[in-house]
Amino acid sequence: MRVVILGSGRGSNAEALLAAQQEGRLGDARVVQIFSDHAEARILSLGPRFCVPAEFLDPGPFKTKFDAAGEERYVRAIRKCAPDLVVLAGFMRILRPSFVDAFPQGIINLHPSLLPSFPGLDAIGQAWRRGVKITGCTVHRVTSDVDGGPIIDQAAVPITPEDTIETLEAKVHAAEHALLPTVVARLSGLNA
Ligand code: GAR
Repeated sequence: MRVVILGSGRGSNAEALLAAQQEGRLGDARVVQIFSDHAEARILSLGPRFCVPAEFLDPGPFKTKFDAAGEERYVRAIRKCAPDLVVLAGFMRILRPSFVDAFPQGIINLHPSLLPSFPGLDAIGQAWRRGVKITGCTVHRVTSDVDGGPIIDQAAVPITPEDTIETLEAKVHAAEHALLPTVVARLSGLNA
């Protein structure tokens, strides 16, 4: 199963996927390409480290969405990789229905809350400020309904009185690093 990763920043979840692949924990899934919408993003440094092509692609002038030319650039470049699965690992851009429809084989997204609670930006901060006692992370199928597609799997993270926002962030990220490779491995089995 050919996997293309899109990410905007640190890339710790892309790194977790690549490490799982290296350790033989990703089933038949193989990351074939990383694209980022930020030229300086750390996620791009994973390419040389893991021998996977990694490339900045210009998304256009907007901060949180594509313009028509940017979307076309992404669709064309991703299609060239012939992916069976597109993984959004910290890709901070809203996708229009035309982008989602371009990849009927499937796009999945990782989100740092137990959806449908706390969609959108700063999900960990939202959960922290609301005072919930359990939060977590979600992998869901991407539809044009932002953070609203069918849920594939979730991991729960309890918030204890000892937690700070920093320890909570670390716990949610650790849960994500376990959940995403598990889901991709499972999907690779289904697609085999
Ligand atoms: C992750 O926590 C991911 O869930 C979140 O961005 C972070 C990326 O971290 N995604 C969203 O909030 C999407 N709505 P990473 O670059 O270290 O993988």
